[in-house]
Amino acid sequence: MTIDVKKSDAGIIQTLDKKWWHDAVIYQIYPRSFMDANNDGMGDLAGIISKLDYLKELGINVIWLSPVFKSPMDDNGYDISDYQDIASEFGSLEEVDKLIAEAAKRDIRIIMDLVINHSSDEHPWFIESRKSKDSPYRDYYIWRKPQSDGLPPNDFHSYFGGSGWEFDEATGEYYFHQFSKKQPDLNWENPKVQEEVHRMMNWWLDRGISGFRMDVIDLIGKDVDKQIMTNGPHLHTLLQEMNKATFVGRDLLTVGEAWSATPEIAKLYSDPTRDELSMVFQFEHITITFDPEQGKWKPRPFDLVEFKQVISKWQTELGDCGWNSLFWNNHDLPRAVSKYGDPGRYRVQSAKMLATAMHFLKGTPYIYQGEEIGMTNVQFDAIEDYQDIETLNLYQERTAAGVSHEAMMQGIYENGRDNARTPMQWNNTLNAGFSEGHPWLKLNPNYPEINVESALDDPNSIFYHYQKLIQLRKNHQVIVYGDYQPLFAEHEKVFAYQRQLGNKRVVVINNFSAEPLELTLPISLQGLKGQCLISNYAARKQLSESLTLAPYESFALLIKQC
Ligand code: GLC
Ligand code: CA
Repeated sequence: MTIDVKKSDAGIIQTLDKKWWHDAVIYQIYPRSFMDANNDGMGDLAGIISKLDYLKELGINVIWLSPVFKSPMDDNGYDISDYQDIASEFGSLEEVDKLIAEAAKRDIRIIMDLVINHSSDEHPWFIESRKSKDSPYRDYYIWRKPQSDGLPPNDFHSYFGGSGWEFDEATGEYYFHQFSKKQPDLNWENPKVQEEVHRMMNWWLDRGISGFRMDVIDLIGKDVDKQIMTNGPHLHTLLQEMNKATFVGRDLLTVGEAWSATPEIAKLYSDPTRDELSMVFQFEHITITFDPEQGKWKPRPFDLVEFKQVISKWQTELGDCGWNSLFWNNHDLPRAVSKYGDPGRYRVQSAKMLATAMHFLKGTPYIYQGEEIGMTNVQFDAIEDYQDIETLNLYQERTAAGVSHEAMMQGIYENGRDNARTPMQWNNTLNAGFSEGHPWLKLNPNYPEINVESALDDPNSIFYHYQKLIQLRKNHQVIVYGDYQPLFAEHEKVFAYQRQLGNKRVVVINNFSAEPLELTLPISLQGLKGQCLISNYAARKQLSESLTLAPYESFALLIKQC
């Protein structure tokens, strides 16, 4: 099926292939924190199945399942020791089949998290690889001799702290790992690795999944000796080969995690004529809040003007070629309402505002579990209460290097990954209804107030706001395919834009501040009347010369045009 997209400026009619994931909304589940069915303190597949009706009610179309594969859980499953089996704490292959089937009954598809830049050091390939230099699996990983003084081949620093090279006594060489030393990088220059992974991907696709979220995919084309890690020379060839070997003839959604993507690079991945991926997650709107040197552990204040420049750039550059993914948070990022809104007095209003601001953009929106009820960041007093390997390693490394405990804790409170990983808050009973056992990570103490049950009982809750946004995307092509134009680009507190498709136009206005604001409208907007598609205060039906926006007020107006 194709859609005619009328270019308003030049009057050209452009034809775009319609894809099922263009108007879909995706919900990310972090299985260990979602729902624990057997009360061992850890979420599981049976727990997810028990909550499918809830997700159906929300209206999402796809579940992105964070890894459930067999794993020693050094990085909560992003370290896989068997790609074709399931971690016993999560369940079994039969339960994945059941999840796929039960989800399908509710028109929900499943995409799996493909972690193929590295495996676990407990994967049989690595166990064999480290045994001897002659092992047929040696070249599945990246081994190098020590320098003459015994030091590692270079000073590459792992993202999880320490050297990216680990010395292995058995053969007297170093292996390469960009994450923990229990996550050795696979050698993608070896055609056998490519074949094995393609075979495994086909095996999963044949089981009925609808695609993959591809972990740190921008790292697989690396040239370790030249220290080119992101966007390496082999990246796009590898993806095109993968596409030929696995995706062809199937109608999939594939989304690559690409921290290093610029719009130009994102087009390489997602231009449909290049046969690589459906889209990538880019992180430029996230990293603007990180310190250029110290990264996320030294947060910078959120600058709305800079944020708008980034979003507008991506919206414009991928407007006609490629496709955007839209998200505020995921399992690695802080909770949106804490980071960009107000987790206190205006929690509900600001969470709704953030949702509207993101969901009216062009691209495919992703919701991270708990976002739909406005879950917030957490602050544990003791570092021991944190579980995340990155948080714990970097706390050690940085405090040893002289950063104060207080400064590091501030960084963790603001950007640590466990913010997103506290158990899902289902109700106000023991452990928020997540588990009757001892939860693997402490809960956010605000669960008696913030939980699914109370959200479902309140017609004005954040939950129903998301439900409406998902539905609007289905009902209005302008939200899916309309051109994007920024409004008030220089305003420090307002994020506004319009979308246009043929004679359909939507104006979206969001107050990113806790103060009421007077906004004088440009002539082009004055006097416009329309249908209020969604709002977080009383519905607005027309735009006069000026508007007084309430704290975090947000609305979208579908303009009537003659
Ligand atoms: C990705 C994942 C993150 C993981 C890392 C290593 O960034 O999202 O959770 O730790 O890759 O696999
Ligand atoms: Ca369990």
